[in-house]
Amino acid sequence: MIEVESLCRSFQDKKRGTVHAVNQVSFTVAPGEIFGLLGPNGAGKSTCLRILATLLSPTGGGARINGFDVQREPARVRESIGFLSGDMGLYPRMTPRELMLFFGRLSQVPEPELKRRANELIERLGMADFADSRFDKLSSGMKQKAAIARTLVHNPPVLIFDEPTAMLDVVTAGIVEGFILQAKREGKCIIYSTHIMEEAEYLCDRIAVINEGRLRMTGTMDQLRAATGKQRLREIFLDLLDRQVA
Ligand SMILES: Nc1ncnc2c1ncn2[C@@H]1O[C@H](COP(=O)(O)OP(=O)(O)OP(=O)(O)O)[C@@H](O)[C@H]1O
Ligand SMILES: [Mg+2]
Repeated sequence: MIEVESLCRSFQDKKRGTVHAVNQVSFTVAPGEIFGLLGPNGAGKSTCLRILATLLSPTGGGARINGFDVQREPARVRESIGFLSGDMGLYPRMTPRELMLFFGRLSQVPEPELKRRANELIERLGMADFADSRFDKLSSGMKQKAAIARTLVHNPPVLIFDEPTAMLDVVTAGIVEGFILQAKREGKCIIYSTHIMEEAEYLCDRIAVINEGRLRMTGTMDQLRAATGKQRLREIFLDLLDRQVA
């Protein structure tokens, strides 16, 4: 469902020279699987996820989403994904419900089904109180919920979430976590990045640790424990970051 092969993305930076933001990264994510991408600030997570979402082109390697090539078939890829990032431009005068209807129409979801899905998402994400209030009157967490609902309105088989629970309170983060688990049960293929170790440990079937553009290790919690001799994900993570790149 998500196939990433020797993916590279470098940037030319006047001060820093060539920055290898993503360097020879390969992994696959299956339907019904939650794949966590972990790494320190600047590790290359967002760059990788933006390439999968067709917002940025790779400088090497490639990726397929739902069988479609991110470079050759970007429109088909976009139909197949729900993408959430920290900088979802939300129009101040729009309401969460209007946002969902707007993006659903862009994705050509039939009108009766779209209204039904919007209502269902409003209910499931606990948005009833503010679904018809303008974004400029909403809190960060409320906006984040609406941004999540927007990514799901066309019912895509693949979800790409860049730090979906950042800025959310414990209760709301729990709702979003439940939502991700529900999506997994529906057979969706989910890749997401987070800095919250307990959350990754709880949600992810497999975890990849990336640092300086390179995948240090990919595996289930048990596999990561066996490889590092550590128990908690936090310790595993720090251990992997300490290791030199082979
Ligand atoms: N447009 C750009 N031009 C130059 N360098 C960039 C650009 N976008 C990203 N980078 C660099 O690529 C590297 C990876 O950045 P990226 O945003 O992917 O990290 P991240 O893992 O998402 O970090 P964070 O946890 O802080 O969100 C960083 O060194 C960053 O400065
Ligand atoms: Mg990032």
